[in-house]
Amino acid sequence: MLEEEYQATHRPREAQRNLPPLETPFEYSIRDARLQDMPDVREIYNHYVANSTVTFDEVPMTLRQMRSKFQHATKLGMPFIVAESPSEQILGYAYVYPWKEKAAYRFTVENSIYLRPASTDKGLGKVLMAELIARSKAAGLKEIIAVIADKGAEASIQMHKNFGFKEIGHMGKVGFKFDRWLGTVLMQKSLK
Ligand SMILES: CC(C)(COP(=O)(O)OP(=O)(O)OC[C@H]1O[C@@H](n2cnc3c(N)ncnc32)[C@H](O)[C@@H]1OP(=O)(O)O)[C@@H](O)C(=O)NCCC(=O)NCCS
Repeated sequence: MLEEEYQATHRPREAQRNLPPLETPFEYSIRDARLQDMPDVREIYNHYVANSTVTFDEVPMTLRQMRSKFQHATKLGMPFIVAESPSEQILGYAYVYPWKEKAAYRFTVENSIYLRPASTDKGLGKVLMAELIARSKAAGLKEIIAVIADKGAEASIQMHKNFGFKEIGHMGKVGFKFDRWLGTVLMQKSLK
């Protein structure tokens, strides 16, 4: 190795100390979602529709469908929140939605949480989930159900367990995506 190459790759400790951090800090704030956020929310969700088995949707969700989901949930007073970066990019979202339309199910919801791929594994999922649970409780909801793919969604299953969701069932071979059969793990948390 030439002297100048060595100098370039082996900086003295003093110089290393003054280097800026390699990654910009991962900063965000959590707020209520707005109708104008739905194109970003849809983009995040459709990434997983096209590339993963964490959702059993195979056809990209339209903006109209995403807006109508948002409007229905918020009309019922159910939380729909987003994490936003300082430059106002939506990094992820979480919401709850009626588990079933029949009236007696009115205190039971299903949750949904998706992060932009570059925003995963940095603790944001935990923050959004904690906020979603707190807001669901404040809204008077009593039970949250998570329906999670039994393959490819290990992070989600583990995170739900960490938040006290209990496995209440496992349906095998109910979905067929990317040429393979998939099941779902059902998990439930009571908001006492
Ligand atoms: C699932 C998801 C919301 C989790 O959010 P995240 O920010 O990546 O996760 P966090 O960094 O907050 O970690 C939360 C917990 O998940 C678990 N976890 C995270 N990544 C994991 C992995 N690769 N494998 C197993 N467990 C993992 C850990 O238990 C972690 O808790 P800990 O750090 O206290 O140990 C996020 O990864 C995501 O959007 N994934 C793709 C979409 C998806 O699967 N959505 C859920 C559909 S049901």
